[in-house]
Amino acid sequence: MALYAAAAAVLAGVENRQGSLKGLVYASNFQNVKQLYALVCETQRYSAVLDAVIASAGLLRAEKKLRPHLAKVLVFELLLGKGFRGGGGRWKPLLARHQARLKAELARLKVHRGVSRNEDLLEVGSKLGPASQVPRFVRVNTLKTCPDDVVDYFKRQGFSYQGRASSLEELRALKGKHFALDLLLPELLVFPAQTDLHEHPLYQAGHLILQDKASCLPAMLLAPPPGSHVIDACAAPGNKTSHLAAILKNQGKIFAFDLDAKRLASMATLLARAGVSCCELAEEDFLAVSPSDTRYAQVQYILLDPSCSGSGMLSRQLEEPAAEPPSKERLCALSAFQLRVLRHALSFPALQRLVYSTCSLCQEENEDVVRDALQQSLRPFRLVPILPSWPHRGLDTFPGAEHCLRASPETTLTGGFFVAVIERAEVLSSASLAEVPTPAPVPSPVPKRKRRRKAVASEGT
Ligand SMILES: C[S@@+](CC[C@H](N)C(=O)[O-])C[C@H]1O[C@@H](n2cnc3c(N)ncnc32)[C@H](O)[C@@H]1O
Repeated sequence: MALYAAAAAVLAGVENRQGSLKGLVYASNFQNVKQLYALVCETQRYSAVLDAVIASAGLLRAEKKLRPHLAKVLVFELLLGKGFRGGGGRWKPLLARHQARLKAELARLKVHRGVSRNEDLLEVGSKLGPASQVPRFVRVNTLKTCPDDVVDYFKRQGFSYQGRASSLEELRALKGKHFALDLLLPELLVFPAQTDLHEHPLYQAGHLILQDKASCLPAMLLAPPPGSHVIDACAAPGNKTSHLAAILKNQGKIFAFDLDAKRLASMATLLARAGVSCCELAEEDFLAVSPSDTRYAQVQYILLDPSCSGSGMLSRQLEEPAAEPPSKERLCALSAFQLRVLRHALSFPALQRLVYSTCSLCQEENEDVVRDALQQSLRPFRLVPILPSWPHRGLDTFPGAEHCLRASPETTLTGGFFVAVIERAEVLSSASLAEVPTPAPVPSPVPKRKRRRKAVASEGT
């Protein structure tokens, strides 16, 4: 066996806990034991750095036949080792195609970390720790398939199913080709961190949605029954919309709005691939959507996931572990927008339940926005106590804030996230609904845009 293939096999064995490094090196029958041992040791030492560089350079997506462990060994040799030993064989030209990008990503990592030597990056490995340990969550799209069938498919592909996890520790310990069912969400499969399924046929066919667990909470907690009318106010690129459609079983209606034409275009592709047929997409400023428009008279559910600083995003934590928090001015502008859009959503006359979420860690965009919107609403709304066993709660900044959920790599093994579920305080009869005072109009500085509607049709598998 050639050196790199042997090193990749040993590395995979170590990571899958099939044996000790020494034992696996000897069992490999590779002649130069010392050389193989040193290569695997070094590659393993830089493992987190290599994962980050390989992911941000998109190497595995570009080179579909390159297996992750072999990629790690080769990229170690290229960037951090002493060059390809024994010439590098057929791998050298393949890596040469990506050399510039890989080098640039390594340099970027060093700049972000403020270091100049490769060895100093080892500290980055431990800094990347929590974010790089977040597993790959995969939501089964129940519009097209069911968890049992997907589990069988992966088993036939040589994956080993561990059943439903009972703790976060079990998820953290997943390695190699092991996968499990999430402890909370019945349609969420969990694979080891860095599992890349973008090229998987089930993903390509819309049977799987690659979506972090925290980002599955909003639609799950909104839980509109089939047949409901729902607004997804800031919808693109549409992962949560497709989740809502699955919960609705494509029965009812989702009015999905977004301002960004490009993001809407990719959303239309995503929804078509996912078999969503109950969604009407509109390129429109949600603040300009009139709550008194008769089209929305039956909207009882709103999902509001507005633009935010993204300070909890996993990709950001992985690529820029030393990034500065958002500036005061930016937070001020974002939270003013978020408050305006939340107040606007709360003014829809038939609204019963709303989920507000962000992928921000900042109190200004989360608890403060929810507190102010509830205080300023003319209609009676309250925070709903949700998921009592969820370990990370809203910051204790006002009474009831503990009903909100927070998420992070350290506490929930997910990206950084915030969710609040808001419900109308009393269920109004249609007669009393007519008496509800119209709330103060929410000023919108954004000029009204031309409405463009797109019906999304379902697509066969
Ligand atoms: C955090 S992203 C939404 C992600 C989406 N919910 C998902 O799960 O895929 C916020 C979105 O809000 C859109 N947006 C910002 N301001 C808006 C507005 N006034 N009306 C409608 N959409 C808006 C942005 O274009 C962006 O696509």
